[in-house]
Order: sequence, then structure tokens, then C-alpha cells
Amino acid sequence: LTKTGTDWSPETYGRFRGLRLRPALDLLAQVRDVPAGAVVDLGCGAGAVGPALAARFPGRDLVGVDLSPAMLDEARALGCYARLDRADLADWQAEATPALIFSNAALHWVSGHDRLLPRLARMLVPGGVLAVQMPAQYGAPSHALLRDLASALFPDRFDFTDWHPPVAAAREYAVLLAPFGAVEAWETEYVQTLASVASGHPVRHFTESTAMRPFVARMTAAEASHFVASYDAALSAPYPPQPDGSVLFPFRRVFMVLTCPS
Ligand SMILES: C[S@@+](CC[C@H](N)C(=O)[O-])C[C@H]1O[C@@H](n2cnc3c(N)ncnc32)[C@H](O)[C@@H]1O
Repeated sequence: LTKTGTDWSPETYGRFRGLRLRPALDLLAQVRDVPAGAVVDLGCGAGAVGPALAARFPGRDLVGVDLSPAMLDEARALGCYARLDRADLADWQAEATPALIFSNAALHWVSGHDRLLPRLARMLVPGGVLAVQMPAQYGAPSHALLRDLASALFPDRFDFTDWHPPVAAAREYAVLLAPFGAVEAWETEYVQTLASVASGHPVRHFTESTAMRPFVARMTAAEASHFVASYDAALSAPYPPQPDGSVLFPFRRVFMVLTCPS
């Protein structure tokens, strides 16, 4: 279970499998030599990246780590992980020293990156690699509208006055990880085309399995349907439909690859 108390839905998350896999493959393409040792897929979810990691590092133990039972069940069915561990990323500790910790679209669910990322770096073997991708979308309308609407509609539960986005700028990660080795850090904005949907806004169909979850988890069913309808309506201005009904959904992501000295 996540901190919201409700489990993830592999099915809803999997709707945009291609769009969500692309950044992981872009990250993997920047991982070069990795010394002997296990490969950890941290926050592996349903295992979307597992086959690519297994193909890239054949013969290695591939260990998946996640907190969601539903996601871990899906990952298990793939058969590419040597082991799948249920653990909270906030305090996960590797059993055997990993050669590569690869984390796609997961670490933004855990706060305190200034402690978390150095802790992960210290777990690696000499020459080991930490490769991370996270959404950096918190200032975009898709995410800002969730906060604005939730605090306007349910001020008793949502107050973002002292809120800070959980993901920093790429250069801050470059500074944070520099003491541990060579760091490459960058950001990419993917202009995603989302097809029209029968009801609601396509961007909501994208965010409802991820960014929207912690919001509706704190609402009754009636409140959630009012919130979702308001969100659908508000998304039309920043993400207007194109003539074929699809929308362009720019989505920013931050990447880093740390290579420790051998
Ligand atoms: C957006 S999915 C990404 C999954 C996978 N890496 C991929 O690329 O498809 C995020 C995953 O992070 C997991 N997660 C969120 N918070 C977590 C936590 N505190 N500890 C462990 N896993 C967590 C969720 O269960 C979910 O499977």
C-alpha cells in the first residue's frame, strides 16, 4: 500500500504503457558499463522495465522492489525478476550490494531526496551506477489544477500553503550526488499525444492512475466524482482538443545517472 492507503491499479497505470516506458528506455540508454553484481529495479511497479533490464544485463540477478501488492503480482507474472521484495522505498536497504540501482518514475513518491539519494549511492559496489527518472511536472496545469481544485473544494483537507514539490531541478541532483562520483543530470519535456476518450479529459485519464490518486483517496465517492468532473472541465483550457479530438500533453521529466569510482 502507498501512503494513501489504497493500492495501485496496474490496469489503469498500464493504459499509457508506451508513453511511460519511453523515458525509462531513454534513461537506460545512458547507463554504460556496470560492474558485476545485482541489478535492482527500485519501485518496479508492474515490471514494465523488467524485460528491458533483463535483456540489457543478461545473467544478472534482477531484483524488483515495490510496496504495492497488486503491482508486485503483475511483475511476478512476467518471470524476469530473480526476486521481488515488498518494501517501502523510504527505508529500503539492499540485501546484497547492488551494481545498478535503476528507478523509473518511483522516487517522487518519497520525500527527502537530499537524504534518500545519497543513501542509495552508498549502497552501490565500487563502480556501481544509480540511474533515476522522475516526473518534474508539479508546476504544470495537469498537476497544479489538482492542488488548486482540491484546496478550493475541500479546504478542510487540502492546504498547500507550505507545500514544496518533491522533485528538484536536475542541477540540484547534480550537486547533491557529485560527492559520490560522476553525475549526468538532465531534463526532457515529452510532448505526448493523448487520444480522445469517450468521457472526461484525456489528461485526466493519464493522471488518474498516478498524480490524482492521493487526492481522491481522501474523498468520499460523491466528493471524488465532483472533483473529477471539475478537473476534467478545467483541463480543457490548458490542453485543448486538436481537430481529431486528441490533445498534446507536454510532460517534463528529470533524469540522473551517477557512476561511482571503481
Ligand atoms: C508510476 S509507478 C512506476 C513503476 C515502474 N517503475 C514503471 O516504470 O512502470 C510507481 C511505483 O512506485 C511504487 N511506490 C510508490 N510509493 C512507494 C513507496 N513508498 N515504496 C515502494 N514503492 C512505492 C508504486 O507502488 C508504483 O508501483
